[in-house]
Amino acid sequence: MGKILVTGGAGFIGSHTVVELQNAGREVVILDNLSNANEKVLGRIEAITGKAPVFYKADIRDREALEEIFTKEDINAVIHFAGLKAVGESVAKPWEYYENNIGGTLTLVDVMRKHGCKNIIFSSSATVYGNPAFVPITEECPKGQCTNPYGWTKSMLEQILSDIQKADNEWNVILLRYFNPIGAHKSGTIGENPNGIPNNLMPYITQVAVGKLKELGVFGNDYDTHDGTGVRDYIHVVDLAIGHVKALDKISDNPGLKIYNLGTGQGYSVLDIVKNFEEANGVKIPYSIKERRPGDIAECYADASLAKKELGWTAQYGIREMCEDSWRWQKNNPNGYDD
Ligand code: NAD
Ligand code: UFG
Repeated sequence: MGKILVTGGAGFIGSHTVVELQNAGREVVILDNLSNANEKVLGRIEAITGKAPVFYKADIRDREALEEIFTKEDINAVIHFAGLKAVGESVAKPWEYYENNIGGTLTLVDVMRKHGCKNIIFSSSATVYGNPAFVPITEECPKGQCTNPYGWTKSMLEQILSDIQKADNEWNVILLRYFNPIGAHKSGTIGENPNGIPNNLMPYITQVAVGKLKELGVFGNDYDTHDGTGVRDYIHVVDLAIGHVKALDKISDNPGLKIYNLGTGQGYSVLDIVKNFEEANGVKIPYSIKERRPGDIAECYADASLAKKELGWTAQYGIREMCEDSWRWQKNNPNGYDD
């Protein structure tokens, strides 16, 4: 069994996935340009798993660096997390997002096929459903209009990878559509480490809880949901990571092209999350209602039964544990990896 190349493996979801891969006995090589990650995560992964992952500080757009890795290491499959992911920033810098995410993936996939490695698991997103035609969202739900360039990079890369697989059936491509990953490893030593003021709900809440931000702004309370605030399918990042280990098992059956939603199937509103966070952790989260955020949808939650049926995967952690684990990471590391 060859090694697994994890691009973006120093990032939030990538680092948790490396832990679960190593726990499952897989040999991992990480490639990350550290544009949104800190090298300290490598020592933390070693402390958790007892094994230091092989690390290349490199860029997926750097063909020579990729050539070197695929020549030196016996890579059997790639789990491809590397990419820029800030929705708002992508609106201001569309060229940078298309060049990094799409350009980088095209280079990666080209080097892979030249080295006879045609197995890839790609980080997609529920954002490809746009404003979903129905909830709970199955994989059959039509893809929709994305509201920002980041979302389009995911939607377009799904198309590109699907077309490549169609043209050459030696390829195995698994597109994983993540819902909203939160939480952190139980050790409280690895977690999400956003640059600047967080855009996403849970890191914003934990920074309010730790006193770095004053109050949460709730983006709209007039949606057609049970309490008027936006509903999402929050999934524990460790469950998500385990989903990748299962997808890797699936790759060895030569599945061709597969698409799976990775979510819990349970929707929670913004105010549900605030309440669960407060009750789980005994911390108060002051908030005020603000305008809707442009591009947001009312509700988005998965039907995750296909992943259960075909991967034998279901999310294990509930919302309380997600809140506890997010808080443990933030409390122990108020400045992320900079502490
Ligand atoms: P992250 O920013 O923590 O991880 C991405 C990693 O990729 C970072 O470590 C960054 O340094 C690296 N990277 C970026 N561009 C690179 C390049 N050109 N070459 C090499 N490395 C590069 O983000 P994350 O939350 O862990 O997300 C991982 C993947 O999952 C991303 O593709 C993201 O778009 C996707 N995704 C994330 C979410 C979410 O809510 N977090 C939801 C759906 C999909
Ligand atoms: N929200 C607030 N206040 C905040 C932040 C968020 O009220 O300060 C609300 C949002 O309006 C939304 C919910 O909390 O109703 C979740 O918002 P997030 O920004 O955490 O997540 P999104 O569902 O908007 O987007 C996330 C990722 C995207 C990804 C999408 C679908 O950020 O990259 O999930 O997977 F595309």
